[in-house]
Parts: sequence; structure tokens; C-alpha cells
Amino acid sequence: MEWPLNFVVCLFIILLSPALLLLLHRRKSSRKRLPPGPPGWPIFGNMFDLGAMPHRTLAGLRPKYGDVIWLRMGATKTMAILSAKAATEFFKHHDLSFAERTVTETMRAHDYNHGSLALAPYGPYWRVLRRLVTVDMVVNKRINETAPIRRKCVDDLLLWIEEEARKLEAPRGLHVARFVFLMTFNLLGNLMLSRDLWDPQSKEGSEFFAAVMKLMEWSGHANMADYFPWLRRLDPQGLRRNMERDLGKAMEIASRFVKERVKDRQVGGGEKIRKDFLDVLLEFEGNGKDEPAKISDRDLNIFILEIFLAGSETTSSTIEWALSELLCNPESMIKVKAELARVVGPNRDVEDSDIDSLSYLQAIVKETLRLHPPIPFLVPRRAMQDTNFMGFHIPNNTKVLVNAWAIGRDPDAWDDPSSFKPERFLGADCDYKGQHYELIPFGAGRRMCAGVPLAHRVLNLVLGSLLHKFDWEFDGNVTRETMDTRDKLGIVVRKYESLMVVPKKCVA
Ligand code: HEM
Repeated sequence: MEWPLNFVVCLFIILLSPALLLLLHRRKSSRKRLPPGPPGWPIFGNMFDLGAMPHRTLAGLRPKYGDVIWLRMGATKTMAILSAKAATEFFKHHDLSFAERTVTETMRAHDYNHGSLALAPYGPYWRVLRRLVTVDMVVNKRINETAPIRRKCVDDLLLWIEEEARKLEAPRGLHVARFVFLMTFNLLGNLMLSRDLWDPQSKEGSEFFAAVMKLMEWSGHANMADYFPWLRRLDPQGLRRNMERDLGKAMEIASRFVKERVKDRQVGGGEKIRKDFLDVLLEFEGNGKDEPAKISDRDLNIFILEIFLAGSETTSSTIEWALSELLCNPESMIKVKAELARVVGPNRDVEDSDIDSLSYLQAIVKETLRLHPPIPFLVPRRAMQDTNFMGFHIPNNTKVLVNAWAIGRDPDAWDDPSSFKPERFLGADCDYKGQHYELIPFGAGRRMCAGVPLAHRVLNLVLGSLLHKFDWEFDGNVTRETMDTRDKLGIVVRKYESLMVVPKKCVA
């Protein structure tokens, strides 16, 4: 009869001891002054305080606790940055001390985190991949060469929408973000692998698409094992197991794409005029000392997946919010339509080369990203050593959430921060390229988004084309007063209720 009691006591100790250790550690380090923060529960800390929209909840804590706050999420020490002033201090003076990433449990499946550019430890392998992307793939010269690919993918998008609109029964609308997502998937497929991947005719492409959707699902779930590392082996929600299975499937398909390409290159067939991202990776030759001599097969597959994970949902969510904001702010819609009519005119499509002349359209994209950054906490960083940050002691390994959502609405940095006013960017020297810390939808510093030049072109081209080709209306039941403006957090933040809209082809 003794053993069940012993068992319960032991279990209790096992579960509590890390929390007790943490508490003791906190006591000790609090003498060195951690940032202030809400007190939290024993063991669970602040896990239940943040709700389904933690970016909003944390922004709401700033008046009470200040620009930098301290949270305990289970056993995880976390610092959140909530103001433009604190973000400036962070990126300008402490970027290197926080250049590591926090890796979630699902992203450890198949050692994804080691091959991934976004999650790789800050070091030589990360540097090699980052250089390949920013110097050989997403550099302006290369982007210019691929303008016809973007044009073709956007033409497909406009055609899909036109066909779907014909089938619609008034007053029902279509789910525009889904079409943009599929278009982006094909666009990235063409840049990466020179092929359409969302194609009902292609079995391999559809399987790959389905597997990537699953990866997004599993990595977007909150996972208890991230808050209590001793639960990792148990995987109580089964997320790691699901990720192992679907990531394995996606990597297997990616590896078939790579093998086909290697074969084509060996026989000299499939001679291509343009190098795609995969060619760049296959041709890489490192020094074999502080960098790899070649990119391994496994890392190639991971890289391919990464580009889809990084670029597809972020783009479609931004376009969905931009259209939503324009429908709620008709004066901005009128202005951008007038600009498109003046610069592009009725007889042709929007081209990449028009973007520089479309300053109001660009202002709309910036204003949308200010209010609705798709990755509201950026990709979480991690302290590489004990650091003194704004007078606080931040222990080694602390996870850092930079709340780009709160910073974009910081009343000390923006006038009338919650209103949609693209005009604020006209003639202003403020963009999202990492120099203006009050606007950081792509992050800033060493680990800033590597795809910004491409994302900038795609967002402006897609939004400009959708607005130039169609007039948009809410579907029958919704008005700008009743539109649902809530958001939900998965791998990216998107609209809680999908935007359903009715497109009407503009008459020339
Ligand atoms: C609307 C579109 C996009 C948004 C809002 C976005 C946003 C972000 C953010 C917030 C980060 C983390 C930055 C940080 O921690 O400071 C990031 C990282 C990254 N993004 Fe993007 N991104 C977009 C599109 C793309 C595209 C199209 C690509 C690929 C070509 C891409 C590739 C990457 C990569 C590789 C990283 C990791 C960089 C590193 O850790 O060094 N992104 N992105």
C-alpha cells in the first residue's frame, strides 16, 4: 500500500522541482533586477494570463509594467519588448547578444532546426545560408530577372478569381486569401524549383502542398512541451509525432525534386536559361573549414520547405488585411484606384516597374503591415549570455518576444496609432527595411527577414493588380460597420473570420 503514495510524492517532486529551482533562481537573479511583470501562478507562471491573442494582451500590460516586461511561461524565462524605444535599444545596442533563436519542440523534428536558416544557431552555417539568400537569390538583380514569373503567377491569380466570380451566386463572396496563398505557393515553387506546385494535374505538387499545410498547422499550435521541457519525451499533445510524420513526408517529396534536378544537370538535359534557387544551392562550394563544403541533401530539403513556410501565409494574410482595411476606409480605396488609373492606365496590367511610381499603394502596404504584422512576435530570439538590457539583468537563454504588433501601435511613436492612415507615410522617410524600429513587420538586425526585397515586390504587385483589375465589395451580409476585425494567432496572425468579398471586373 506504500508504493502508490511514494509514487505520487515522487511524481510531485519531479514535476515541482524544476519550478522550485526556477523560483529559487528567480529569487537569486531578482537581486540583479529582472524587468517587472505580472506575478503569475505557481508552476504555470503567466501561461494562462495571455489568452488567445497574446500580442494584444501583452500590449495592454505596458501602462502597468513599462516598455520591457518579464514573464514566466511554465519553466521558460521570457522577456517581451513592447515599445519602439525599447526596440531601438534592443536592435541598435544588443542585437548580437540576442542573435540566437528559441526553437520550439515541433521544429526539432528531423533536426529541422539545424538545417533551417530561420532557426539555425547563430554561426557559420547560418552565415552561409543567409549569404546565399541575400546575395544570390533575393537580390535586386535576380528579382528583376524573375519579373515575368511573378507576372505569370499574378495573371493566373486574376484568372482564377475571374472564373470563380462567374460561378458565385450573389450575394456570396469568395475567400480571396486562399487564392493569394495558392498563387504565392506557385510563385515560390517557380523561383525555387522552376515548377508550379499547386496544380490539380500534378500529384506530387498536390501532395507537397498538403504536407506543407500540415506543417503549418502543427507548428502553429501552443505546445505544453515548450513550457515544460521535461514533458518533451511524453509529447502530451502528440504534436511532435505529427510533425515527425508530416515533415518526413514533405522532406521526402522535396528530395525527389532535388534528385530529378541532379539527374537533369548530370545528363545536361533541362538546360535552363535562368538559374533558380535550387541551382544556387546545388552549385554552392564552401571552404570545408568553418563552412560546409556542400549543402547536405537533408539541408537542401529543409531549405526548400523553409522558403514555403516563410513566404506563403505571411503574404496572403497581408493582402487579406489590406483589402479589409481598404473596404473599411473607402476614401483610401478611391485614392489608390485613382493612382493606379493615372500611373498604369486602363489598357495594361500593373508591372514591377510601376511600383516606384505608386507611392500611395506602397503607403497602403506599409500601413497594413504596421497594424497587422503577420508574425507579431517576430521569430523569437534567445539571449546568448547574461546581458544588461536597459538597466535590467537578462539571464542567459531568456526567450525574447519583440512585439511588432504593439510597437506598430505605440502611441509614443505614432499619431492616432489605431487608425488606418496610409497618408502618414507619404513623403516620410520611414519604411520596413530594418532602419526604423517603430515599423518592424520584417524584424531588424542580423536576423531580420531575408526575403524583404522579394516580399516588397510581391505585396505591391499583387495588391496593385487586384485593385486595378477588380472593384471589390463585401459579400451581402457584411458592412464596414459590422466587419469582424478580430485576429487569431497560428504560425502567423490572420483574420479570425476570413474576408469574403465580391470582385467585379473593372470596365476599361
Ligand atoms: C509578407 C511577407 C513576409 C513577412 C511579413 C516576413 C516576416 C519575417 C519576420 C518577422 C522574420 C523574423 C525576423 C526577426 O527575427 O528579426 C522573418 C525571417 C525570415 N524570413 Fe521572412 N517574411 C516574409 C516573407 C518572406 C519571404 C518571401 C521569404 C523567402 C524568400 C522569407 C524568408 C525569411 C527567412 C529565411 C527568415 C529567417 C532569417 C534569419 O533568421 O536569419 N520571408 N520573416
